[in-house]
Amino acid sequence: MTQEPYISVILPAGGSGQRYHPSQPKLLAPIHGKPVIYHTVAAFYNHPAISEIIIPCTNDLKNQLDAVLHAFCSKYHCVPSGRSRALSVASGYHNRNPRSHYVLIHDAARPNVSANLITRVIAALHTHKAVIPGIPVTDTLKNVANGWITHTVDRSTLVAVQTPQGFHADCLATAYATVLHLDNYTDEASLVEACGTAGKIIAGEPTNIKLTVDSDRHFLEYVWGHSNVHPDSSQSHDGTW
Ligand code: CTP
Ligand code: MG
Repeated sequence: MTQEPYISVILPAGGSGQRYHPSQPKLLAPIHGKPVIYHTVAAFYNHPAISEIIIPCTNDLKNQLDAVLHAFCSKYHCVPSGRSRALSVASGYHNRNPRSHYVLIHDAARPNVSANLITRVIAALHTHKAVIPGIPVTDTLKNVANGWITHTVDRSTLVAVQTPQGFHADCLATAYATVLHLDNYTDEASLVEACGTAGKIIAGEPTNIKLTVDSDRHFLEYVWGHSNVHPDSSQSHDGTW
C-alpha cells in the first residue's frame, strides 16, 4: 500500500459496568483526575496513525462524553450501542467511514493502552488480516466441577487476549455477513476465527488491564502514580509466539 491506510478505531462504551458499581458509571470514574474514557480516547486521538474514533454508547453517556471530550478531541463520533459488546462493536463497524482499510477495536474500559502497542498492532496489520495482543498465562489453571479439581490445564499453549484487536475491514465485513448470532462472541478475534481467519498473536501489556471492579481503578492510579509513560511492552515479553 503506497498511501497511509485509513484507520478507524471503535471504542465500545455501551456497557453498564455492573461488576464495578450498580449506579456509578465506570467509564466516567475518575483516574488521575480525568474520567476513564477520557484516557482511552486520548490514547488513540494522540496517535498519529488514527483517522477516526467511533464510540458506541447510550444517549445518556453521549451527552456526558460530549461535555468531557469536545474540548480536546475533534475526530470522534458516538453511535448507538447494542445489548451486548459484540452488537455495540457491530454498530460501530457499520457506522465507520467506508474508506477505512484497517479497523481497531478497543474496550473503552482499558484506559492504559500505550502508543507503542497501538503502533505494533497497526504494523502487524500490514502483513496479517487479524492481529490480537495477548499475554502468557502465568497462574496454574485447574478444571473444576462442584468445587473439586478434575484436572490441571496445560498452560503452555494458553494466552490471555486483550484489545486493541486489529482487522482488515474486509475480514470483519465477511464475518458480519456470515455470523448470525453475534451475542455468542466475546471478542472479534473469535468472530473472525469462526469465519476461518486465525488471528496473529503479538505481545500485549500486563498493565493494559480492563477496568472491571473498583480495585482495578486503584491499580491504575498506582501505576500512573509511579510512571508518566506507558509501559514498554518489550520488557514484558519478547514478542515471539
Ligand atoms: N460494552 C458495550 N456494549 C455492551 C456491553 C459492553 O459497548 N452492551 C463495552 C463496555 O462499555 C466496555 C467493554 O464493552 O468498554 C468491555 O465490557 P465490560 O468490561 O464487560 O464492561 P461492562 O459490560 O460495562 O461491565 P459489566 O460486564 O460488569 O456490566
Ligand atoms: Mg460486560
